[in-house]
Order: sequence, then structure tokens, then C-alpha cells
Amino acid sequence: MQNTTDFVVDPGGSLQGRVRVPGDKSISHRSIMLGSLAEGTTRVSGFLEGEDSLATLRAFRSMGVEIEGPEEGRVTIHGVGMRGLKQPDGPLDLGNSGTSMRLLAGLLAGQGLELELTGDESLSSRPMRRVTEPLARMGADIETTEAGTAPLRIHPVEKLHGIHYELPVASAQVKSAVLLAGLYAEGETCVTEPAPTRDHTERMLRGFGYEVRREGSRICLDGGGRLTACDIDVPADISSAAFFLVGASIAPGSELVLEHVGMNPTRDGVVTILRLMGADIEVENPRDVGGEPVADLRVRHAPLHGIEIPEELVPLAIDEFPALFVAAACAEGETVLTGAEELRVKESDRIQVMADGLRVLGVEAEPTPDGIRIRGGSLGGGEVLSHGDHRIAMSFAMAALRASGTIRIKDCDNVNTSFPGFAGLAAGAGLKIEVLRG
Ligand code: S3P
Repeated sequence: MQNTTDFVVDPGGSLQGRVRVPGDKSISHRSIMLGSLAEGTTRVSGFLEGEDSLATLRAFRSMGVEIEGPEEGRVTIHGVGMRGLKQPDGPLDLGNSGTSMRLLAGLLAGQGLELELTGDESLSSRPMRRVTEPLARMGADIETTEAGTAPLRIHPVEKLHGIHYELPVASAQVKSAVLLAGLYAEGETCVTEPAPTRDHTERMLRGFGYEVRREGSRICLDGGGRLTACDIDVPADISSAAFFLVGASIAPGSELVLEHVGMNPTRDGVVTILRLMGADIEVENPRDVGGEPVADLRVRHAPLHGIEIPEELVPLAIDEFPALFVAAACAEGETVLTGAEELRVKESDRIQVMADGLRVLGVEAEPTPDGIRIRGGSLGGGEVLSHGDHRIAMSFAMAALRASGTIRIKDCDNVNTSFPGFAGLAAGAGLKIEVLRG
């Protein structure tokens, strides 16, 4: 499908009021996956009605799971049990969603079904061997293209067996793929992570009554268990809140409250990094919602300064770097990011694409193999390319708050993968954004 939507954002303004961004994408995907395999009826509220999580929902529908909704974030899943999935009529099209493809590769490896997983151009160029290799060690039979990319062809196998796997990259998707395959494996499956990554899979498995053990950096489970349906309240996605945290921080006169934001400690690196840069973010009403920490975040404009971003924070803010680069462009001095080569294999090469766009706006940005150096300064206007990457598009939209000219961002349709309604919500808070459909 051709991307035809551009954002045109006039310079200046500030962000005010209270905003609740849509539900967490990672948790929404997992709620469909585990709810489908559970015994009983799972009721989800706050579900993200974005293209990515809808791709997961449709995939399970086409494998015979009855799913009602989504309607205003409410989804009811009539679980079919661990062995209840059915052969779909054709390939499972997962669109732009890396999380769907990688987690499903693991979850579906031991189903005894003949399956094909496909995606759009961006997803079909992303590395999949990182999941198919450990899954092959478990006995799975999954074909990739010669380049190690989708489409993935999953062939039935007699059985899977547990492995102990050391993750070569800090990736929650790979960890989750192996653990989800482990549900169907004989014996124990363990994954050791080189650095903490988002732990929604482990938390949600426990919520569905499945025992998951963690000792230090090692996470283990035994195959052959069952999942019991439960209710899930999905918090607002901190990755979507990040655009507003940055926007309000950089725009003079801003004061904004972001409501009900997921504050899982494996996800809140963006708050830590912004605070290190001098941001004024208060955490209000911290609470626990269905096993996930949640809070309201009050953010006020504050002068930011450049920092060297501590490498241990990289996996905890992995999706928030496009927005953080905009903060760095508005900060005084230089910001240096290292240890973030993973950014090159996201929905786009986020290091190169952000550097290109920032340069269009007159910012000094120098990409390095594993990061970037950005010298803060004044931002002009211009036309930037999002390369169909939702987070690049939303980041440059926020940059207009501090630009001296209009910013036009090309190819913004994919904002709907993670943040349907972004432009309306941002305009309501004070961003001078217009959506042009070509
Ligand atoms: C995700 C994990 C991260 C993240 C992605 C969602 C998940 O990917 O970038 O948006 O839900 O598990 P990696 O595991 O590739 O770092």
C-alpha cells in the first residue's frame, strides 16, 4: 500500500492539559496471544486499536479464535486452550509489526500447523534469524529467505525440547519468542539476557497462572503447562507518551499531565534520560494495575542540556530514541549515544533517518555505527522523510514546537500502527499540526 499522508506542523506553541495516550503496544499484543491460548474468557480493556496489535488479533481470528471487539479498547477473547488453534486459510499477514512476527514464530513453532507469516516491505527486510536460530535449536522447522528475512514458513514438527539460551542481543522479542516456544517444549527452557529488557511476557504469563522463574538475568519455565483466562487492563503506552514528554520539555510555557502511563522499570528509561538532561517530570499517583506499575506523569518545560547517555539505559528506552534525539537537538551542548546499534534494524534505520531529518532542520547530527552525536542548537523548518516509520514521524512533529519554520513530514500513514489519533490528541494539547491526505 502506498503511503499518502503527510503531517504539516507550524512552528511554536506549547503543550497544555491532560492527555491519555493509547494502550501499550507490547502488552496489547501479548494479551491477544495468551488470551487465545488460555482456558476461559479473557477480557481486555485499554487495548491499543493500532494496526500492529490488530494484525495480531486478526492472525488469531484466522486461526479459529473467537475474539469480540475491539470496541473503545475493549476486547473479549474466548480462549481455545494450548492446543486449540486451527489451520488458517492462507498466510498470516502481520503488516509492519516486528513484535507479531517474532513472538508468533516462537508461539507457533510447536503447534503442528503449516503456517506462513508475511509482512510489509519494512518488516520483510528486518532480521528474523535472531528468532529462527534459537527456535531451530529447540527442534523447530522454520524457513526464512536466504537473507534471513520474512516470509517465514513454519512446518509442523513432532516435538520441541527446552534449551538454555544466552541472548546475543538484548531483545525482548527474541527472549519472548524462545519462552513462548518453551510453553510447548519438553523440559525446561531458560533464557539469559545480557541486559534487562521489557518483561511483559513474563509478567503476563504469571498473570495467566503460568510459573516463570527468574534468577538474576536468567528466566526459566517448564513446558506442558496451561494458561487460565484473566482480565487485563492495558496501561497507556510510555513509548507513545514519550513524544509528549519531549514536546512539553522543549516548548516554553508547557505543562502537561499524561495519564495512566505504564511505568514498568524495564520501560521507563526515557524518563530517566530526560531527567538526566534536566527535564522536569513528576511521577504522580503511582499504582499497580494488573501486575504492571502505572502513574500519571506531570511534565513542565525546562531547559535541557546534552549528556552522554549511559549505555545500560539503552534497552530500557529502545523505542524512545527518535523522540530523545529531538530533545537532544533542543538541548544546550552535545548529546552522545553509544551501544545502540539495534536502532539500525527497527522499522527504519533510526540512526540514519533521524540524522538525515535533523540535518534538514539545520541541526548538527553525526551518525556513528552504534549511535549518534547531536549538537543542540536552533531548528529551522523543512521537509523530512519518515521512511514510513511511525516513531520518526511523531518525533519530527514535536520538533516543530521549537522550530523557526514549518516542518512537513512525509509518509505518516504508519503512525496508525502504534498511535491512532496522534494528530488529533497532539492538536488538542497545542501542537499546530495539520494532516494532509494525498
Ligand atoms: C518489543 C521489543 C522491542 C521493541 C519493540 C517491541 C516487544 O524490540 O523495540 O517495539 O514488545 O517485545 P526488540 O526486542 O527487537 O528490542
